[in-house]
Amino acid sequence: MNIDEVVNQMTLKEKAAICIGGSAWCTALIRRLGIPELVMTDGPHGVRRVENVNETQNVASLTKSIPATCFPTASALASSWDTELIREVGEIIGEECIAQGVDIVLGPGNNMKRTPLCGRNFEYFSEDPYLSGYLSAAFIEGIQSKGVGATIKHYIANNQEYKRLTMSSEIDERTLREIYLRAFEIAIKKGKPWAVMCSYNKLNGTYCSESYELLTEILRDEWEYDGFVMSDWGAIHDRVESLKAGVDLEMPGPQKHSFKQIMVAIKNGDLDEEVLDRAVKRILEVIFMANRVEKGNKDFDIDIHHDIARRVAGESMVLLKNEGNVLPIKEGECIAIIGNAAKNPRIQGGGSSQVTSTKLDTPYDEIKKLAGSSKFFYEDGYSMDGEINEEQIDRAKEVAKLADIALLFIALPGHKEFESYDRSDINLLNNQIELIKSVSAVQPNTVVVLNNGAPISMAEWIDGVSGVIQTWLMGQGGGKAIADILFGNVNPSGRLAETFPIKLSDTPSYINYPGENNKVIYGEGIFIGYRYYDKREVEVQFPFGYGLSYTDFEYSNLRVSSDEFRDIDGLDVLIDVTNTGEVSGKEVVQLYISDKECSLIRPIKELKAFEKIELEPGETKTVCFELYMRDFTYYDPKHKEWITEDGEIEIMVGKSSKEICESIKVNLISTIEPPCTLDYNSTVREWLEDKKGKEIIESLSKKIMNNKDFKNLSEGSEVDVWKAAQDTQLIFLLRQLSWSLPLVPDMIMSRLLTQVHGKRK
Ligand code: BGC
Repeated sequence: MNIDEVVNQMTLKEKAAICIGGSAWCTALIRRLGIPELVMTDGPHGVRRVENVNETQNVASLTKSIPATCFPTASALASSWDTELIREVGEIIGEECIAQGVDIVLGPGNNMKRTPLCGRNFEYFSEDPYLSGYLSAAFIEGIQSKGVGATIKHYIANNQEYKRLTMSSEIDERTLREIYLRAFEIAIKKGKPWAVMCSYNKLNGTYCSESYELLTEILRDEWEYDGFVMSDWGAIHDRVESLKAGVDLEMPGPQKHSFKQIMVAIKNGDLDEEVLDRAVKRILEVIFMANRVEKGNKDFDIDIHHDIARRVAGESMVLLKNEGNVLPIKEGECIAIIGNAAKNPRIQGGGSSQVTSTKLDTPYDEIKKLAGSSKFFYEDGYSMDGEINEEQIDRAKEVAKLADIALLFIALPGHKEFESYDRSDINLLNNQIELIKSVSAVQPNTVVVLNNGAPISMAEWIDGVSGVIQTWLMGQGGGKAIADILFGNVNPSGRLAETFPIKLSDTPSYINYPGENNKVIYGEGIFIGYRYYDKREVEVQFPFGYGLSYTDFEYSNLRVSSDEFRDIDGLDVLIDVTNTGEVSGKEVVQLYISDKECSLIRPIKELKAFEKIELEPGETKTVCFELYMRDFTYYDPKHKEWITEDGEIEIMVGKSSKEICESIKVNLISTIEPPCTLDYNSTVREWLEDKKGKEIIESLSKKIMNNKDFKNLSEGSEVDVWKAAQDTQLIFLLRQLSWSLPLVPDMIMSRLLTQVHGKRK
């Protein structure tokens, strides 16, 4: 039976029922027609399947899920900058879903990191839409390659947890297109997720769950998305409005009032049955697709998956400081391990993403294993209540003094990174700061091992320590991964996917966060993350893209397929990268572009390509990047279009957004002629900015200048009338000059407009 036939056989009640969850985690079961339930479960960094997916009350039970591999969370995964690795994580999650009878994972989270305070940043990838979009796509592709669905969330602009259910994100059109939607556009077009989850918040005054523009015009008509849209848990306010806008499935269920609302609206004629049918079809398509793979009651190899979690954690950790090559630990060095996070690492954040891990490596145990016969000490160092305890700190100082190197394991308390509310600051606890300062004062070889999911401020203590390594929320294999990095068995290769600011007040959204009267204005516009720090020349602790290695890399020989190219033809960029150090290692080669000539304000640089490569000592590899038209376009709200303009583009390749190693200038030829927007009120400047308008104005200007009276009058004057009048309406200027014109200004104006709006290139 095909889907249309199934829909034809369904009663109105059955159709309404399938558009509302049947339970906390499933769609409604329609036995009569053999329509099975679709089983959903959170991720995103592992499978959180509760025992009874048909429960209706237990939505908030965060700790009772069936054990599954707990991978590092998204902020860690993103720091790997490795799409292959993230695809592999998706594949393993897909396999575990099959074992546990899960059809759809509620992930990845693809929201932009607008403020480091967002309580859920650990679940998101980046401050850059390009990076976030491609990493999300890889994750989706991995999961879906197994016949399990992925759900990209939270569409859209759910960039803070503070008042997430009621807040309206106020975003101008260009920013929305270039930053917030762009991340989803990339991931959805490339990854083709089975489901999109719409967010709780409002966008410019309308609940995202009721926005026809977002859910139908942009998502379906423009991006040609053909999966289904589900609501975030409880994000529906009016089931009929949300159906009309494009939310196919309300979750969780059942919801009697929504069911009744649909039935009444159909009977009254307020809801067209075709709208309901369309939603039903989209849900059925996915249910039938999920049904092709037999799921449930299977085992998965816990040990193999655990090993993968270890490898992934190792690829994600970022070495931020390594003065005097304090790391890796040298053979025979006596080690002081300080900080209870060494024994109780944080492997994930709090909230709906919490996974019950199958195993757990602790840094302490793994270091002990690798330390061999070397001597080591342990001290707790601090307690999670933040209270400074002098005795505890003194004990830590004592062991640090006795050792050759002190490793301080510093974890933010779990309640600081939790879904549904934001952090209030980006600081470590007072006692942790005190501990770091005290220990580093007595032990020059002090290394801080940070265990948190979002940036923290380090300004108070970083100058005193020799090493800093960001291990993120490291997943269940993180303990082994950090031990391997500390001892040099793994060469760190993570790079920051978000900027670490010096202090909170430096951050782009600081002035507008968290908003007031239920509105948060995205006043920084397109200048999110490094786009802001670059433009404002604000110093940062560690820039976007940054990370150290135990080896060195040199970049050379940057070249392009052509110095001049048409946007539609794209451009190939090649660069050679050499490992000039002693050990093998991985480098993340990053390509940014800078549009030098543009009518709108642009960021100094924007990431447009990246590749992670592995190099043996002395080895050179050539990295080839293919840039496409969309890499050069920007969104012009005036034309409601992605456009390019003729002019110079700088291609920059480097190790981070701050460390550009090679750059080259090319000339872009635009093939886009946007529709002309000149009208009766346009200024001289606007006429000059339009290609055809410029020609017309220049010929008009010649005629006026050649006028005898005008010549006489302006003789000796240094002022260029056209320049002085740039920001005046053309009609105003024509009226001023009417004595020198052959026709009345209004008549000239209407001729000019006909001319300029006539046939264009
Ligand atoms: C979260 C979603 C999650 C859902 C189900 C919501 O509160 O925002 O990300 O998938 O709950 O747990």
